[in-house]
Amino acid sequence: MKEKIEHILSEVENFVAESREQVEEYRIKWLSKKGQITGLFDEFRTVAPELKKEFGQKLNELRNKAQEKIDALKEKYENAQQLHNLRPDLSIPADPVVSIGSQHPVTIVRNKITEIFARIGFTLSDGREIEDDWHNFSALNTPENHPARDMQDTFYVETNPDIVLRTQTSSVQVHIMQNSKPPIRTISPGRVYRNEAISARAHCQFHQIEGLYIDKDVSFADLKQTLLYFAKEMFGADTRLRLRPSYFPFTEPSAEMDISCSICKGTGCNVCKYSGWVEVLGCGMVDPQVLENCGIDNKVYSGFAFGIGIERMAMMKYRVKDLRMFFENDIRFLNQFTAAS
Ligand code: DAH
Repeated sequence: MKEKIEHILSEVENFVAESREQVEEYRIKWLSKKGQITGLFDEFRTVAPELKKEFGQKLNELRNKAQEKIDALKEKYENAQQLHNLRPDLSIPADPVVSIGSQHPVTIVRNKITEIFARIGFTLSDGREIEDDWHNFSALNTPENHPARDMQDTFYVETNPDIVLRTQTSSVQVHIMQNSKPPIRTISPGRVYRNEAISARAHCQFHQIEGLYIDKDVSFADLKQTLLYFAKEMFGADTRLRLRPSYFPFTEPSAEMDISCSICKGTGCNVCKYSGWVEVLGCGMVDPQVLENCGIDNKVYSGFAFGIGIERMAMMKYRVKDLRMFFENDIRFLNQFTAAS
């Protein structure tokens, strides 16, 4: 009997099942009513009384081990089966009720602009929407009581008048110049806030992309060529560009850029108010004082900057007449945009 127990024990210990069916086969072989281990229990009755204790223990151990092994293998195969059942059936037709989402037009246009500038080496950078007065205004040549502050109606944080919701992504320029060394070539998209009455043409929140290029010998011609390249990539190869003198406190000289109306191709329509031109961005050579404010040697370096309104671009590209539509989340409006368009 001892050999029989040991023989079955080593069989139990070495048993590796190849299938669920094999586990069942061995359960029957060992533990069913007519199984080998059950058989040994019958035999046990005939064992001499002085050996009963020893054999009894061994036999119980064997039965428990066999039962544990069978249970563990069974569970393993059941789990595998469940996992198999969970695997999706890729041949089932798509559910027509689940509609595919689309990207927001502001996201599509932002991605397009960043991608165009990435091709000529502009990196992507990020700033903060809650900003201190110095980064948003003072470092950009707009100290307190400067009349240019009236150009942008500002939201101040009530408990701390030094903290504002940024009115322009130009504030990111300041961080970048403070924290990196030229050459700098970067664009910074983001949301900005202004305390404006909401209308078809103005909103209290919108998006801008700031561009900054600082290096030795950067000239106004570089600015113009960069913007011309951008306008052609964005609105088509036949797009023309016009720079008008303007004023921004942080650039000198400053300009506003118009492009030939992409809708009427310059012949006149209600989008360009029959002028053939549409204003799309502000730009200029970074004022040497701003370079100095941000710790860049203005005798060695010069640079240009520009600020693009993303909604303005999206309105032109998609002929959207009312700025408010970008913020209403009306699904009928949003559904019309796909990333490819
Ligand atoms: N920050 C300006 C605005 O919000 C836009 C702008 C103009 C940005 C000229 C620039 C720039 O970087 O050079 O109206």
